[in-house]
Amino acid sequence: MATPFYITTPIYYVNARPHLGHAYTTIAADVVRRFHAMSSDRTYFLTGTDEHGDKIVRAAKKENCTPREYVDKISGLFQNLWPELNISNDAFIRTTNPAHMAVVETILQRIYDSGDIYFSEYEGLYCFGCERFYTERELVDGCCPDHQTPPETIKESNYFFKMGRYQQWLIDHIETHPDFIRPERYKNEVLAFLREPLGDLCISRPKSRLKWGITLPFDHDYVTYVWFDALLNYISALGYPDGERYQTFWPVAQHIVAKDILKPHGIYWPIMLKAAGLPIYQHLNVHGYWNVDQSKMSKSIGNVIEPLEMKNIYGLDAFRFFLMRDMAFGLDSSFSEEALVQRINADLANDLGNLFSRVLSMAHKYFGGVIPEPDPAVEKEMDLGLEENSRTAIKAFSAAMDVFAFHKGLAAVWEFITHMNKYVDVTAPWTLAKNKAARKQLETVIYNLLEGLRIISGLIYPVMPDTAVTMQKHLGMTGEDKFYKLERLNAWRGITPGVKLRKSVSLFPRVDPEKKKQVPEAVAAPAKPAKPIKPEIGIDDFAKVDLRVATVVSCQPVPRAKKLLQLEVDLGETRTIVSGIAGNYAPDELVGKQVIVVANLKPVKLMGVLSKGMLIAANDVSGVTVATLDKPVTPGTPLS
Ligand code: MSP
Repeated sequence: MATPFYITTPIYYVNARPHLGHAYTTIAADVVRRFHAMSSDRTYFLTGTDEHGDKIVRAAKKENCTPREYVDKISGLFQNLWPELNISNDAFIRTTNPAHMAVVETILQRIYDSGDIYFSEYEGLYCFGCERFYTERELVDGCCPDHQTPPETIKESNYFFKMGRYQQWLIDHIETHPDFIRPERYKNEVLAFLREPLGDLCISRPKSRLKWGITLPFDHDYVTYVWFDALLNYISALGYPDGERYQTFWPVAQHIVAKDILKPHGIYWPIMLKAAGLPIYQHLNVHGYWNVDQSKMSKSIGNVIEPLEMKNIYGLDAFRFFLMRDMAFGLDSSFSEEALVQRINADLANDLGNLFSRVLSMAHKYFGGVIPEPDPAVEKEMDLGLEENSRTAIKAFSAAMDVFAFHKGLAAVWEFITHMNKYVDVTAPWTLAKNKAARKQLETVIYNLLEGLRIISGLIYPVMPDTAVTMQKHLGMTGEDKFYKLERLNAWRGITPGVKLRKSVSLFPRVDPEKKKQVPEAVAAPAKPAKPIKPEIGIDDFAKVDLRVATVVSCQPVPRAKKLLQLEVDLGETRTIVSGIAGNYAPDELVGKQVIVVANLKPVKLMGVLSKGMLIAANDVSGVTVATLDKPVTPGTPLS
């Protein structure tokens, strides 16, 4: 059996609602969890909430509730959000769980007994309004940023953890395990911290100042503070010290965090584990920060991105895809809806969605929706290397995903999608279909394309699990719950001839980049006097017009005709339609969309191109708007 895999996210503070940043880390963890499920049978994925400390007490006070009521409420928001984002976590840990608190006490006692925790006086700058210490750097003009008053210097006795003792050990560990902290820039950052002597870490607060925490087992007048409580969640959630889960998963633990909490995870945590005599985690994977339109995301600027809102507008898989594709893991990235829409239209609607609907439509048109049998002799003779391309893609994808380089993993899949699209163009199935003698070639080409789609559906599974399942179902593979296993993807010829396919579907409707702006403008436009309604007709007259649903397969400008676009549409059969919409639509804007076509209009030649049918569109002050359908419908369906 393949190696087990354990992944954790940070446990999020419950002093704020979940936002884009939390969603990114958790989706990234979900993606790696699903990626490892492609090769391993045992994965464990943990997330949760960090609920102690004075930040939380202050947030609860602001809301006029007890800390307990407050943490229950905000932790609930996180717990309810994750299923909405298709997060497949196995457990959700809360630091207020009694079992977690017991583990913290055990470890504290152990480290105290071994002499690495000592009691000492501490002097610092204290704000009585906030009931907390400030560092010099946190002050604004020497004053507390909240109360605008200078803090007082007070002395307080506390417990400290002797980190300096383990400094050289940690440097050696990092140097002998070069990918312990990755990407490399963060390893270098930690090593740079470690060039200076490590101070000891204050791990307690007197109960006179903070009660909302875990009582120190060796001094009941104190609670433990922040990191000693929070970091231990990674083992308490596995049922430390006994239990099969701890034995299986702790030796292979990997964490994902953003750069803001590099120091606690890269320095305090391994030292805590070492001091407690526990094995050290395997990898710390550190990503950058999402900014929004180039600025830091913040409540006061009002640019906080709500993950559910993005899901509702653009669809969950498109949102997940964008986050994984647009951020180079390790570097900062800027979020914008424009960039998201661009990705949806180019990578999802155009490259993937189009390929999928084109291939399925052809399989229906040429083989009645039944997977054809490929011919090995023809395959050899054509030798277009699709199988080889798929193997290259799987290899590059796996290597990238293994080191959390999601953007590279997806780029490898999209390279294969490009090969598939080229394969369609080069083999031109529509030409083969016209020649009876080329039947075997056509069967082999369509088989290979369906097989390629099967592999793509498996490769996109970690990032877009719902789309992967939809593709599988349409490929007639309903009974396969482990379709994404790498060994299945590596075995070419996995799709079975003779199996019935479902009708083609539009996986990703294109998003009108102007939509949000256009709607209010159109509404605000001065009302034009409506054209008088035409003379009455009977139902029989209406029935003469054959209106059909058609999927736009491709679109290009008509040379020397500024206003015209030439569209290839699929309405059960492929047709060319020339339409006067070039002033309002870019050629690739309608590709993948479903439109309404007058199918029995007498063909006409426009600028030398024979147009067989007409698109239904509205023409008002804002220009021409093509009528589209708001849900996918089988191409060719009549409208009545
Ligand atoms: N409670 C601590 C972590 C304890 S782990 C033992 C904490 N919580 S937090 O709510 O502030 O979460 C910080 C984490 O949220 C970051 O490390 C990152 O995973 C995620 N992000 C929050 N804002 C982010 C961005 N703007 N961009 C990317 N991720 C960010 O620290």
